[in-house]
Amino acid sequence: MVYIDNIFAQEVLDSRGNPTVKATVVLSDGTMSSAIVPSGASTGKREALELRDNDERFNGKGVLKACEHVDVDIADELVGLNPYNQAEIDAILKELDGTDNYSKLGANAVLGVSMAVARAAATSLHLPLYRYLGGSNGVILPTPMLNIINGGAHADNDVDLQEYMIMPTGFDDFKEALRASSEIYHTLKKLLANDGHPTALGDEGGFAPNFKNNSEPIEYILKAIEKAGYKPGEEIVIALDAASSEFYNDGKYELKGDKKILSSEELAEFYEDLVNKFPIVSIEDGMAEDDWEGWKILTQKLGSKIQLVGDDLFVTNKKILAEGIEKNIANAILIKPNQIGTVTETMQTVRLAQRNSYNCVMSHRSGESEDAFIADFAVALNTAQIKTGAPARGERTAKYNRLLEIERDLLYPEYIGKELFR
Ligand code: PGA
Ligand code: ZN
Repeated sequence: MVYIDNIFAQEVLDSRGNPTVKATVVLSDGTMSSAIVPSGASTGKREALELRDNDERFNGKGVLKACEHVDVDIADELVGLNPYNQAEIDAILKELDGTDNYSKLGANAVLGVSMAVARAAATSLHLPLYRYLGGSNGVILPTPMLNIINGGAHADNDVDLQEYMIMPTGFDDFKEALRASSEIYHTLKKLLANDGHPTALGDEGGFAPNFKNNSEPIEYILKAIEKAGYKPGEEIVIALDAASSEFYNDGKYELKGDKKILSSEELAEFYEDLVNKFPIVSIEDGMAEDDWEGWKILTQKLGSKIQLVGDDLFVTNKKILAEGIEKNIANAILIKPNQIGTVTETMQTVRLAQRNSYNCVMSHRSGESEDAFIADFAVALNTAQIKTGAPARGERTAKYNRLLEIERDLLYPEYIGKELFR
């Protein structure tokens, strides 16, 4: 019987140049697999805890303590166990930590091991990760949300909304959808450059110049879609991540780019205007994580028209999601494994959402790595949507390129963009 022979961790760098945890699992059959944990910038308050050293190294961001927890506490507990029972491994990790947000071991330590165990198990069984995690039922290539203009906490510009994304819904396969997206990205770059805007990139690979207001980026994107030869609203639609917790203060939302300070009701009207004007199908974190009243207003106003995604709001936590479902808040959830801490808990949250007809969007973090775990995970769980940045920068294209590979390998891949927002 194959068992876990060794577990260790190393401090490596993420895409912003900050340290993060790389965990490695060695099995008794010689399999050795690793996983790298991502890291957010506009994090939700109720996320699982990312353990940092807070000492003089790396401006306090070192993760040596988390690595030590992997090498000592976690290895002591998991070595000798069966790697093929992910639920058991994750339950042991949860019990070993003993807190409800992994504040003892660090969610970065725990998730690294949880992902590396899954990958080692898959490799040992000679299965691709998506097949190991999803079985024969994992066949949907997710429709991507590609963040091509970055604002908020991911850029140094004066754009308040954090992400302006295109979704290539009107295609029959992932490959063509990605091609169109890349063409639009490059067309957008030319349009911006022609108007004298800098084309430097934000954290997620999108362009990050200054704009007149928060809707001008959408106008640019629509121009780029048309100029690239595609039909906005039919082939390509728009998704936004407002990440509004970042501009919520004392019960008000301050949109500096529009020189406005708005109540929740007024912000909902602001979005409604945008939705009436532009082909927007999805808005993430339209209201702040603490503003459940605002979320209620927003859901009543727009919940039957567009997708309303809870990210900071739900933090991939099944208990908070259950509360949201109960109160009719939002209609979709962003899925970030490091917000909750283990592979198993991530899957539990996805199942709860799917049982309740809440759409799921698998997601990267703004601080990423070459690890493409979430590409396989999205296919395994049939989330049907993935958010993983612009079609540029290696840590983003790692995910898109992995999805291209999965699509090539599946005999009957399904790309269901046309069905998503009917
Ligand atoms: P983060 O941003 O990874 O910086 O939290 C991503 C998001 O808000 O969706
Ligand atoms: Zn978000």
